[in-house]
Formats: sequence, structure tokens, C-alpha cells
Amino acid sequence: MNKHIKRSWAEPYKMKMVELLKMTTSAQRKKALQQAGYNTFLLRSEDVYIDLLTDSGTSAMSDRQWAGMMMGDEAYAGSWNFYHLEEVVKNIYGYKYVIPTHQGRGAENILSKILIKKGDVIPGNMYFTTTRLHQELAGGRFEDIIIDEAHDPDNEFPFKGNADLNKLQRLIKKKGAKKIPYISIATSVNMAGGQPISMKNLKELRVLTQKHGIRIIHDMTRVAENAYFIQQREKGYQNKSVKEIVKEICSYTDGATMSAKKDALVNIGGFLAVNDWDVFEEARNMVVVYEGLHTYGGLAGRDMEAMAIGIGESISDDHIRARVGQVIYLGEKMLDLGIPIVKPIGGHGVFVNAKGFLPHIPQNDFPAQTLAAEIYLDSGVRTMERGIVSAGRKSNGENYYPKLELVRFTIPRRVYTQAHMDVIAESAGRVYEHCEKIKGLKMVYEPKYLRFFQARFEKLN
Ligand SMILES: Cc1ncc(COP(=O)(O)O)c(C=O)c1O
Repeated sequence: MNKHIKRSWAEPYKMKMVELLKMTTSAQRKKALQQAGYNTFLLRSEDVYIDLLTDSGTSAMSDRQWAGMMMGDEAYAGSWNFYHLEEVVKNIYGYKYVIPTHQGRGAENILSKILIKKGDVIPGNMYFTTTRLHQELAGGRFEDIIIDEAHDPDNEFPFKGNADLNKLQRLIKKKGAKKIPYISIATSVNMAGGQPISMKNLKELRVLTQKHGIRIIHDMTRVAENAYFIQQREKGYQNKSVKEIVKEICSYTDGATMSAKKDALVNIGGFLAVNDWDVFEEARNMVVVYEGLHTYGGLAGRDMEAMAIGIGESISDDHIRARVGQVIYLGEKMLDLGIPIVKPIGGHGVFVNAKGFLPHIPQNDFPAQTLAAEIYLDSGVRTMERGIVSAGRKSNGENYYPKLELVRFTIPRRVYTQAHMDVIAESAGRVYEHCEKIKGLKMVYEPKYLRFFQARFEKLN
């Protein structure tokens, strides 16, 4: 149970429709895994029992969101659902201008093309796969300025998403502020294990960047989960609502890219939001090339309506407390079994430290990829790798070797029950019991971009 609250984290909703799941045998899973080249992204979802691949686009929408879907205004231009979405983004997050995109990376593409010039450096609080790739494709280079604690899975610092201001200052001194078009700040840092940034750190960043005339662009994909951790952990925020904290976070940034498939409880959608008219004007023009007209950005009217309603639901204190409460419940179960996980437990999933779980497998033999495959084999629970495969290669072709080699047990919002969490922890526990017998993998097919999605592997003997 979450130590910060006395009442259990029970959900503020009940079920009115269920989706039936297929149970598989061990032999079926073995075959499915081989066919998928030991990559959980290549499994068919019908072969999966509990799907923790991602929390992206996998949430259960509410009856209100479904009702909103029925009210889609599918006009090519000027759909009223767009104006509703625009109003919600302005009111809840406080950004001035909004452009819908089909999902987060659509917004990243447009923003990177507008703000980044060849040779620029983009500092950020740990990379995210698609974000960094768009920065690189636009001619820039990402530089990690997250605090060192974030790279240590056992360090229990409560705000491991914080940026290290000294690292940023050194970079500004070395490169000059003109070479830094913006700093890329994620709330609830995904690759660090869903770790929050503190308001104090964000305020200090604001002061420093303002001094140098550098923008802060906010990856606000999981801003509500970050706000919840601030409420629970940061002095002065205990009596503020998640809604108030979310707005304050956004107020220290100049714009944002949003994958609404996470926090905002929709199956598809995202947006780019900015405060700067010039950037907005350029983005509004560019979105026509890559996504669609600026009043739909690759989405149907009904998708924008579901997003507008989902954003409102995402900042409810009761919702977010149950959402994070469920993740913490699973994490604490795993800790009780002695499984090495990233601490503190993150907002959107439990991240198992594969280097600790399979210490005999070197990073070049893909311990996290291996562990994700073993968990699936054991129980049909699908997780994903967040380690050397996800990190990919540098522009000179060398592999990145991230310090964190993790398996992400990502919890979709409002989808699974407490009993499902028990089954997941039991499965991880069972695999842990015979961990020393597990052998690594070798990569036999590697796509050029974002290799973790489609790479194929074979078992080492
Ligand atoms: C932190 C973060 N940023 C950006 C994205 C990209 O969003 P999308 O998958 O909607 O393109 C994701 C999604 O996985 C994410 O977790």
C-alpha cells in the first residue's frame, strides 16, 4: 500500500463492460515467442494474457469519453471538437496555442524541425527514444543533463527526474546559449523508471534558462503522474490539488509535446502546445504537411473529443491516486519477493533491474530483452525492454550502453485488477527462482530506426 496515504488506493470507477482474454499454454507461448523473434513487440496481442507492453493508448476510456466519441464533428475544417480540445488545453495546462497531432511523435517531429538547426545541442532530463531521434533527424544532438542519481536503480532520491543545473551550466558555457534551441524537460521521466522532477528544480531551471534566453519544452506525456508525486513528496504542495500542480508545472515551460495516449486516457492522439506566436504560426503551417489541417492534425473529430474529456479526467486527484496506487501495489509485491526493481517505484510502471536480476548475462547479450521474453514464457504477461536495445546506436554506429538495463512492467490505466497485479508479481517471482539458468540472446535482425520495435533475436546456447 502507498505509505503516504491511510486509505487503500481503490479505483474511483466500476466496470460496465469487459474484454475477454485468451489464456495460453506454455507450449503455445514458446511457439509464439519464437515466431516473434524473442521481441515482445512482435507478439500478436491475442497470445498475451496481461499486456504490460506499454501504457500508451492502452487505457480504458470512461463512459463519458465514449459518449464524446458519438459526438464527433467530422468536418474537415473547424470541427467543434477541436475548439473544445483547444479550450481544455488552455484552461487546464495554460498553454496559449494548440495544434493537434496524431500522437506524441507527430508533435516532436514538427517542433524539432522548427526549432533545431544543424549542430545544435538539446539538453534534457534523460533521452526518450522518439524524442531524441527527431532531434537527431533535425540535425541536433541530445545531451543528458539528468542528475546522476537517475542512473542508479537503487538510489531512493524522491525526484530522480531532476535536471542537474551544474551540467546544464557547463554545457551552456561550452557550447554557448545560441547553440541550445531549448531544453527538453520530461515530467515523470519514462526511461528513468517513471521518476518525477520537483517543482523546485523546475523553478530553478526556469530562472537559469531565462537568464540565457533558452526555451524549456515540456514532454508532458505523464504530467499528472508527476504532479501527484509532487503533492505526495514536495514541501508546500500537500494541500494543492493535482490540477493546480499540473498548471504550475506547465507555467514554468514555454511549450509542450503531448502523447495523449498516456495521461490523457485516449487510445490515439496528441498535440503540440506553445506560448510563442511565431513558433505556433510555423507549426500551424507545417502540420498540414505531416499530419493534416491544423484543426484536426491527423485525428478524427471524435478522437479530439475523447481527448478533451480524458484530459479533464486525468487531473482528478482520486483518479491519479488510484492509478499510481496500483503501480505501487505491484512494485511493493515485487520488493517483498526480493526482485530488484528501480526505486522509488515509478508512476506508470514497475521497472525491473535486469542487471540485478540476471547478473551473469552481459549487456551485449541483452539481459532485459531476455527477461521480458522469459516473463512472457512463464505466464503470458507481456512486458518490454528498456535497456541497450531501446537505447540504439549513436550516429557513428556505436551502440549506446545505458547504465539502466530495465524491463518495464507498464500498467495501462483503468484496465487491470488487483488480482492481475498479484499474478504478475507471482510470475516475476517464479522466473527469479531459476534466474541463474537463463541464457541471453543474440540480435539477428536490426532495423535502422528505433530498433527495439522490430528487432529479432535468437536464443544463445
Ligand atoms: C515520454 C514520452 N515521450 C514521447 C512519447 C511518444 O509518444 P507517441 O508514442 O504518442 O508518439 C512517449 C511514448 O511512448 C513517451 O513515453
